[in-house]
Amino acid sequence: METSLKRIKEDIEKISSFNATPGHGITRFSYSPEDKQAREYFMQQFELLGLKVKVDGVGNIRARLGGADPDLPVVMSGSHIDTVLHGGKFDGVVGSVGALEVVRTLVDSNIKTKHPVEVVIFVEEEGSNFGSSMAGSKAMIGKYKLKDIKSIKNDKGISMYEMAKNFGLDPDKIEADVIKPDEIKAMIELHVEQGGVLDDEKISIGIVEAIAGSKWFKIEFEGVPNHAGATPMHLRQDPMAAASKVIAEVEKITKQKAFSTTVGTVGKIICQPNIPNCIPEKVMFTVDVRDVLPKGIEIVVSEVKKIVESVAKENKVKASIELMGESDAIKLSKKVVDVIEQNAIRLAIDHRRMNSGAVHDSSLLASVTDVGMIFVPSINGRSHVPEEKTDFEDIKLGCDLLLAAILDLANYRNTIKMQ
Ligand code: HGY
Ligand code: MN
Ligand code: MN
Repeated sequence: METSLKRIKEDIEKISSFNATPGHGITRFSYSPEDKQAREYFMQQFELLGLKVKVDGVGNIRARLGGADPDLPVVMSGSHIDTVLHGGKFDGVVGSVGALEVVRTLVDSNIKTKHPVEVVIFVEEEGSNFGSSMAGSKAMIGKYKLKDIKSIKNDKGISMYEMAKNFGLDPDKIEADVIKPDEIKAMIELHVEQGGVLDDEKISIGIVEAIAGSKWFKIEFEGVPNHAGATPMHLRQDPMAAASKVIAEVEKITKQKAFSTTVGTVGKIICQPNIPNCIPEKVMFTVDVRDVLPKGIEIVVSEVKKIVESVAKENKVKASIELMGESDAIKLSKKVVDVIEQNAIRLAIDHRRMNSGAVHDSSLLASVTDVGMIFVPSINGRSHVPEEKTDFEDIKLGCDLLLAAILDLANYRNTIKMQ
């Protein structure tokens, strides 16, 4: 029994066609028309398979294939279908399609696992709308309550609550929809590595042991806008001059004061009024800090906060720092990691254990169940860019390993007992 390369390819190509920026990578934000098309595609596939589908208040989709004992906790697998702006076609989609293909293969082979198996599609994983990543899975586990989805807003001031409502969902019910630990036995997410380890080492599969933690900040300096030519340097209160000092320090601190596993990124900057001959009024920029070692994040965050304060004084500007989102550094479940590895060995698939620098919805589900992740190589280690690429043969291998692990976790074969 194996998954179908043809179907996997068709799914990924079809979903990639739901795109707001054709010719410039893939852009499919949650709650967008493109997202609606992609969701409808999955819903059609779920209907063809006779799955029982539930959509929660913010749009997370759970599609269930009944087990021999329907009351047992589910074995869940899936990922996200939203993207960054001008992103790639594989991030998130590989895991969503992989889970769909596993269930298709079970149905085609008339396999009845003991535990039910569920495909999950998380909403708003990238944080592209509201600047807070994994907002969908945070709502699913109850970390984000109604007040939180009302407070996270996009650049136009529209909240996740309003967007979900306008999308035809019922966000008022999110607290009733929270997943309970006793309804889920385990979860496995298949995902592209998004880094270069597997591609460099020419290894087909990564078995993830730990996922980096993350903190996302929005830092804003407010100064006094004025004429770029007529304002002498000693009379300026220039927020761009202040911001530039902090941005340069983010790289220095991360490289010199934290660990080799710590990363710090300034990826977004907004300048108002953003015209060449005006000293700006406000400059806002984001700082994204991550590490599998929480201490690494702590070091960078405390150093950056100190610099923001001193630069604000030096440039006589107002400073504000807002935590936009965070996720804990987590170790994945040894039980699930072992089940994945035992199947990789049984299927003679070359593999290695590794960490994830990218964050995933699995980081959140790890607080309610045993979680594992399977990586497939990202060619040249590129992701979140139009050049993002993974060979379909590698994706199929990942799907076959996902199938094997789910069969064990759902107690079909009982070849491998979870300790
Ligand atoms: O940012 C991340 O690590 C993920 O791709 N959302
Ligand atoms: Mn992803
Ligand atoms: Mn991503």
